[in-house]
Amino acid sequence: MASAGKGDAMRLKGRVAVVTGGSRGIGRAIALALAEGGAAVAINYQRNKAAAEVVAQAIEKMGRAAEVCQADISNPEQVLRMRDAILQRFDRVDILVNNAGIHRDKSFINMDYETWKAVVSVDLDGAFHCTKAFAGAMKARGHGRIINISSVVGQMGNFGQANYAAAKAALLGFTKTLAKEFASKGVTVNAVAPGFIETEMVTGTPDEVKQQVLAQIPMHRFGKPEDVARAVVFLASDDTGYITGHVLNVNGGLYV
Ligand SMILES: NC(=O)c1ccc[n+]([C@@H]2O[C@H](COP(=O)([O-])OP(=O)(O)OC[C@H]3O[C@@H](n4cnc5c(N)ncnc54)[C@H](OP(=O)(O)O)[C@@H]3O)[C@@H](O)[C@H]2O)c1
Repeated sequence: MASAGKGDAMRLKGRVAVVTGGSRGIGRAIALALAEGGAAVAINYQRNKAAAEVVAQAIEKMGRAAEVCQADISNPEQVLRMRDAILQRFDRVDILVNNAGIHRDKSFINMDYETWKAVVSVDLDGAFHCTKAFAGAMKARGHGRIINISSVVGQMGNFGQANYAAAKAALLGFTKTLAKEFASKGVTVNAVAPGFIETEMVTGTPDEVKQQVLAQIPMHRFGKPEDVARAVVFLASDDTGYITGHVLNVNGGLYV
């Protein structure tokens, strides 16, 4: 499994992190990078228990604690059950990474409400439910890091992604509002907006579309999950206590 770099080993020592959708793709790289930084990590997944367990084992091999926790983040009861299980294991959460997301692409004219709702329920409502579950205790303790994984698509729009773009743009408004509400309580709230990153979300797109996208990226390459993970570790650290409400682009210059 690729490493996100060891430049800042142990800057997160003693912290407890939750990564939604930590079983695959960007979430997996984030979970590993946070653990490399010294954090214990709870790895949320929806269906793919085996993949989540592989991530947990890799983290335990580093000498950090890891826990896998199943929950469909669009379901508030499941999120509360997950929170209780995590708190039973670790007794607090310092870092919440709202990463889990899906896309169901269709041009707007062909997009039914069900397809719209499916994406908004996970990508936006999921962040609401998870933040509800953990933010209150962070405020009460006077420390916390909430990092929302948005997308360049929420900043630029993208053909066939009205549902996804709307949810990812809304996450930015959510981030900026919570940043203001929590600023006096030591809880920072920031977003990372990845461009096109090499995960199943991108490798599944037709070659022709991939070539069209590559042509628009000034760095002429897709990003790697580890590129995003390093940005998250930075925002999760104690060094960034005066940064809040920020949107950190990780997009190879696609949107500046
Ligand atoms: N890849 C990109 O180019 C790109 C660009 C910009 C932003 N992003 C954003 O980055 C995040 C991660 O993307 P990715 O490419 O790594 O995706 P991915 O490879 O498809 O992985 C998605 C992850 O989310 C989990 N998940 C999906 N629905 C869930 C639900 N209802 N409840 C809990 N977990 C759920 C999956 O769990 P299971 O393994 O159990 O299915 C999996 O761990 C997403 O928010 C995505 O929108 C991605």
